[in-house]
Amino acid sequence: MVLTIINGPNLNLLGTREKDIYGSMGFEEFLEDIRKEYPEIQFIYFQSNIEGEIVNALHKAAGECDGIILNAAAYTHTSVAIADAVAAINKPVLEVHISNVLTREEFRHNSLIGPVCSGTIFGFGLNSYKLAAEAFARKFL
Ligand code: DQA
Repeated sequence: MVLTIINGPNLNLLGTREKDIYGSMGFEEFLEDIRKEYPEIQFIYFQSNIEGEIVNALHKAAGECDGIILNAAAYTHTSVAIADAVAAINKPVLEVHISNVLTREEFRHNSLIGPVCSGTIFGFGLNSYKLAAEAFARKFL
């Protein structure tokens, strides 16, 4: 199974960014961890701070993987273009967030991405990505 993880803006700063919310592990280190835990899954990783690049990455991923784990970060709450891209491709997409967005500011409570995804996992720190991988591995979707 091939899964593509797509991370949105500011997630390149994980490890140093607001550690109280996002933890102190960088994503490259986490990728080593998740790859070890799921040796049967091939993970492709893409991160961008630019909305259109995330749209392009979703289009590309649709042609080269079995499923997508998407943390659109702040674009979750604003991007019609990313929501349309998720709706346009014919691969399952799981929305993930590191933090529990429902316990945070009200503008984070709404996701434009959620309604077009197969499911959403949030609030488990970086383990949210592992739970998403587990859902794919166990064919929950
Ligand atoms: C986030 C939550 C978003 O509200 C925020 O803008 C992020 C990260 C998360 O993973 O918890 O950048 O997607």
